Amino acid sequence: MFQQGLCVVFWLCVYALVSLHSGVFCSNGMVTTVPSGKIKTYLEPPSRPDVHCWSPSYPFKVLCSWPEPPQSQRPTHYIATYSLKDGEIQQCHPYPTSMSPLPSPELSLQRANSSSPGTRWFCILEGLKLYTTYQLNITAVNPLGSVSHLQLWTIEDIVKPDPPVNVTVQVVPRTLKLLVRWAPPPSWSDHELVPLNYRVRYQWEKEGTFHDITLGPFKETERVLPGLLPGRVYLVQVCSMEYFGLGQNSDWSPPVNVTMPAD
Ligand SMILES: *[C@@H]1O[C@H](CO)[C@@H](O)[C@H](O)[C@H]1NC(C)=O
Ligand SMILES: *[C@@H]1O[C@H](CO)[C@@H](O)[C@H](O)[C@H]1NC(C)=O
Ligand SMILES: *[C@@H]1O[C@H](CO)[C@@H](O)[C@H](O)[C@H]1NC(C)=O
Ligand SMILES: *[C@@H]1O[C@H](CO)[C@@H](O)[C@H](O)[C@H]1NC(C)=O
Repeated sequence: MFQQGLCVVFWLCVYALVSLHSGVFCSNGMVTTVPSGKIKTYLEPPSRPDVHCWSPSYPFKVLCSWPEPPQSQRPTHYIATYSLKDGEIQQCHPYPTSMSPLPSPELSLQRANSSSPGTRWFCILEGLKLYTTYQLNITAVNPLGSVSHLQLWTIEDIVKPDPPVNVTVQVVPRTLKLLVRWAPPPSWSDHELVPLNYRVRYQWEKEGTFHDITLGPFKETERVLPGLLPGRVYLVQVCSMEYFGLGQNSDWSPPVNVTMPAD
């Protein structure tokens, strides 16, 4: 693979020298050219992709995602395979996107606010066996070389639902209570086969200190918060988790800010 890379670079250099009339040189084989725009860019070998895999839809799908490589490594393409130990190698087809590949607005929001905003690469793995160890191999390839990221997991270990959506909070009339309602994350496929549980967290500030209470887990998609104080501001969030506690809880939903009426 490395030799192949060197060979491609050699021919890129020859091509650059032949096709451009001026100012092109080949230092250490590290200069490539885009003939149409005559823009010179320095190409580097690919770095190992920082791959994160999780199942927002147990047991049907696993998503693997990694950031777009820096400009200096492009064009880079990826070969993504997964297999059982000593088993047949299956391939998934990575594609770059700035949108969440499954229907969940919250997921897209987190993406927009991740440390590397913009495009990420995604690969969707389907038809996985339960309680079975898979080896994932994501190989980054560009004209200067290739590097593989390998990881092992069972789908049960990487379950992580998306947060609930449409969280609303209402004051229950003539009481010091709040009614919180939400909808399950749309990306979770089958609520009959594998139900979700939820937790509700509410926070408030008193004399400069933040306090919080977390309720749950429970199956219902609404909850009454009792014992609140008039005039106080509460921040309410909900998260979801697989019914039997597989994997991780979802992230918390974005906070909803409510002020209790002052009597
Ligand atoms: C982005 O996320 C960080 C940590 O997760 C948080 O502190 C920050 O407020 C967020 N920014 C926006 C614009 O939501
Ligand atoms: C990972 O995939 C690459 C590209 O298909 C392949 O060359 C490499 O041998 C694989 N590595 C392992 C450990 O399977
Ligand atoms: C959330 O609210 C929007 C707008 O009211 C609605 O279109 C959508 O179906 C709701 N999602 C769920 C999962 O209930
Ligand atoms: C909640 O709302 C109140 C009143 O609108 C505002 O003063 C406060 O900063 C908000 N808190 C947060 C954490 O958004």
